[in-house]
Amino acid sequence: MKDQYAVIWTRLGPQPVKMGTLVVTDTQARFSYESAYEKTGLRGLGLVYPAAAFNNTIVRERNEFFDLHPPLQALIPPRSTRNFTRALLLKYLAHIKLDTQPGFDTDWQILLRAGHGAIGHLDVFESDEAAQQWYATPSKKGLVELDEKFGFSLKEFMTWFDGDAEMIIDMLGPTPTVGGAIPKIPLSINRSGWDGYIGMPTRFGDSGRTDILLKLENSAVYPGIIELEQLGLNIHKQAGFEVPRFWPVIIKGLRALAIERFDRSTNGSTVFMESIYSILASGSTKITHHYSTTYDHIGRALDNPYVQLVTDRKAAKQHLLDRLILAILSGNGDLHLENLAIIDTNGVLSFSPVYDPVPMRAYFIHNELFPPGMSFGGYGDISPKDDGFVDFATAIKQFAKRLGLTSNRLFNRIEHMLKVTEDYTRQVQALQSLPLENKNNLIQIHQRVRQQFMSL
Ligand SMILES: Nc1ncnc2c1ncn2[C@@H]1O[C@H](COP(=O)(O)OP(=O)(O)O)[C@@H](O)[C@H]1O
Ligand SMILES: [Mg+2]
Repeated sequence: MKDQYAVIWTRLGPQPVKMGTLVVTDTQARFSYESAYEKTGLRGLGLVYPAAAFNNTIVRERNEFFDLHPPLQALIPPRSTRNFTRALLLKYLAHIKLDTQPGFDTDWQILLRAGHGAIGHLDVFESDEAAQQWYATPSKKGLVELDEKFGFSLKEFMTWFDGDAEMIIDMLGPTPTVGGAIPKIPLSINRSGWDGYIGMPTRFGDSGRTDILLKLENSAVYPGIIELEQLGLNIHKQAGFEVPRFWPVIIKGLRALAIERFDRSTNGSTVFMESIYSILASGSTKITHHYSTTYDHIGRALDNPYVQLVTDRKAAKQHLLDRLILAILSGNGDLHLENLAIIDTNGVLSFSPVYDPVPMRAYFIHNELFPPGMSFGGYGDISPKDDGFVDFATAIKQFAKRLGLTSNRLFNRIEHMLKVTEDYTRQVQALQSLPLENKNNLIQIHQRVRQQFMSL
């Protein structure tokens, strides 16, 4: 393979600025900061790679899991045929008649085209000219009514892109990369809230609109998921977590959820955001999947004396415990390393507002207490004391202890979450689009974990 070059820019500051250069060889990914970048005082590639600490090129050996530094790898949708964004981008590459080899060649072409304007603060381009041109081009102004121009081809997409995708491609251009498994499209709407009109994602100077992710229901695989996500967001809000604004919408009979993005500021610049997955994988090559470590490890990382991931470590550890308790109680089972992220709000690093709190255990294929490989407090491990396994009660207490939180605090938070979810069974019953067997499944799971928490 010939070495590949790209440039990384960011809109973290008042003006777009070049952060550095990426070179990918057969065996390595090599990122170098611009010598002037450190002086901007802006955050760098990721929390593990601050500009001030890296005068030299940051070299990462490529392996089967990461071709690039994790914050950059996050801009390429995974190589799954079921990934909506990837499928959309492959259609786009075919549309512009770009012939790519499967594997890294395709990934690279996707990165150059969809690696800017995506989630977070990094913008990847083929060249500085391409960057300058992109920044100088205002986003398409004006909002179009969603129903007329959009609904038809969206519905076709939901049958997994067999139809002609021309219309959506023309409208969106190369869709900026958004990770995750559920079909979603970045768009913008009126700042005042959903009114049925949508536009392209904002760029600078766009002040009347706000950016959203439009998540769409894939009824064949996850019937009722949109309503479940609303339930998850609502319960987190009631529990006191920060939750973005969201609007349930129906597009030609297709359920969807518009969620306001918190990685954009009102003047069109970006907010620093990095997933726990990207952070941990930057620090250790042992992290190969978004579920390849424990919650205890996240806790230890929050306490790492050499790399500051959050401004208030204690508050972050409390947040982690709270998130885990409510994830368990609400039947989420999906609180993995990519569903937790750190953002910078006016210089303060903390966990981001809640996203993706869907009670996934409602679906039989996702019915596990936590993603496989993740665990807390040694739950399920062979107990050091006897021949048995570490049980739920021991594990949750152990987890809180490892976070340096008192059992008083643990019990208080459990009590709070139990109260918040007092009405959960009825709320699940009231869902309209979730099939009955999934409702019953979720209710049973909730009742069971509720009992487990109450008997602590
Ligand atoms: N409100 C939001 N603001 C900014 N980024 C978001 C928001 N919601 C989701 N994201 C980003 O988009 C990614 C995918 O969204 P998510 O809701 O997790 O979908 P999925 O169900 O497919 O995992 C997340 O990992 C996160 O990086
Ligand atoms: Mg997710």
